[in-house]
Amino acid sequence: MTTHNEMKIFTGNAHPELARRICNSVGVQLGDATVTQFADGESKVRINEDIRGRDIFIVQPTSQPANEYIMELLILVDAIRRASAARITAVMPFFGYARQDRKDRPRVPITAKLVANILVAAGVNRVLTMDLHAQQIQGFFDIPVDHLYARPVMLRYLRTKKNLEPLVVCSPDVGGLKMAEAYAQALGVGLATVAKRRKSDTEVDPIYLIGEVKDLNVFLVDDLTSTAGTLTSAARICKENGAREVFAGVSHSVLGELGFQRLRDSDLTELITTNSTPIKPPAGSKIEVLCIASLLGEGIKRIHHDESVSSLFET
Ligand code: R5P
Repeated sequence: MTTHNEMKIFTGNAHPELARRICNSVGVQLGDATVTQFADGESKVRINEDIRGRDIFIVQPTSQPANEYIMELLILVDAIRRASAARITAVMPFFGYARQDRKDRPRVPITAKLVANILVAAGVNRVLTMDLHAQQIQGFFDIPVDHLYARPVMLRYLRTKKNLEPLVVCSPDVGGLKMAEAYAQALGVGLATVAKRRKSDTEVDPIYLIGEVKDLNVFLVDDLTSTAGTLTSAARICKENGAREVFAGVSHSVLGELGFQRLRDSDLTELITTNSTPIKPPAGSKIEVLCIASLLGEGIKRIHHDESVSSLFET
């Protein structure tokens, strides 16, 4: 076991509460930095302690407003690199812009790759992230990327639920089948999928359902929910096909007013998500937020001690 120089964990303004919880789980104090804004809105960063030669982790999911939090992260990295840190790991439990990962029509950017490029150019040495929209995004970085899964946290919660069986796992779109398959295997249940057609950024049409859901409870699995169009239309088609209750497990929630409203009016019994983003469900919503601080804390400790991160997920 190699141990690097002392570890320090810093945070920007994206999710300081998660950063504090991670620090508690690791057993260290949150690093002392000031991350504010100048009068004109530019980010203002100052590291208020000596970090020369230290192993630095910066917790900053790039959730809404993504552009602001990406910029804050880059400026933090710059300040920390210039202060002679030995190594900088960007801890991005939610990696924003991940859905723009391919050129699926002419004259569009691959923004996920651009974000990877600028992080590396700023001085990030490693990335710790969770449930990327597509695993291939790891290849956008020419530095090590450790990829965690919310699955163990979700499964622990699901196993506390009574009367969940008979159960089937369902992907709300074909792109998410691999993720859903991992859940189905872990739960030892069958798998179904919805084929969806996206009409616009906020509207989707479920086209058909492949697999059996009749008289079964359904667990919809997805990496992300934003407008909740994907989830709620998948829940509807499951119900139309005779499903009993429909639950959803989604790693990251970047829900706005439209998403909360749709969930409230939907056929879903419950949405289970994580605090990879600073989600604050309105009172009375059907949303359960699970904490991933100890999962991330364990990932950080293992990176710091040069231990395997993937073995965290061996069953
Ligand atoms: C898409 O492929 C993703 O995995 C999600 O299904 C999608 O981004 C969710 O977006 P929304 O909640 O707006 O339908």
